[in-house]
Formats: sequence, C-alpha cells, structure tokens
Amino acid sequence: MPEPEIAQKSPFKVAVEAGKTYFWCACGRSKKQPFCDGSHQGTGFSPVKFQANEAKAVFFCGCKHSSKSPLCDGTHNSL
Ligand code: FES
Ligand code: FES
Repeated sequence: MPEPEIAQKSPFKVAVEAGKTYFWCACGRSKKQPFCDGSHQGTGFSPVKFQANEAKAVFFCGCKHSSKSPLCDGTHNSL
C-alpha cells in the first residue's frame, strides 16, 4: 500500500447534512478536501464512504493517517 499524501495536519470540520452520503479522500491528492475529487486514480487508494444519519459537525481526517478514517483520531499530532 502506498503512503497517502498529507493534505493538512489537522482535521477538516464539516457540517454534514442528515441523509447525505460523503466520500472522504483517502489518498490526500484531492483538491476538494476532505472529499474525493477523483484524483486517486492510479494511486491504489479509494475514497471512504461516510453516511450522515443526522446533521452535525464532523471532523474528517486531513492527514490521511487516522486509524479511524474517515474521522480524525488524533494521529495527526504525531506526524
Ligand atoms: Fe483522494 Fe479520491 S481523490 S481518494
Ligand atoms: Fe488525521 Fe487528525 S487529521 S488524524
């Protein structure tokens, strides 16, 4: 597995909408962070689906090294 690029060393706070589906960028190359824009093609990475069941603030991993992706788990602090 190749290493993902670090989009930023902090999470992206996003106000998600109830019932909406999001695709988190796992490769770090998207220009529409924290979400996939198709730039992963050829990298071996695929986006991770996130289903919002309620409207709330979600902290999506920006460093792409979280072990709880697509959510931030604090791993960015040790990069
Ligand atoms: Fe990164 Fe699609 S652009 S996973
Ligand atoms: Fe990746 Fe926090 S931004 S673990």
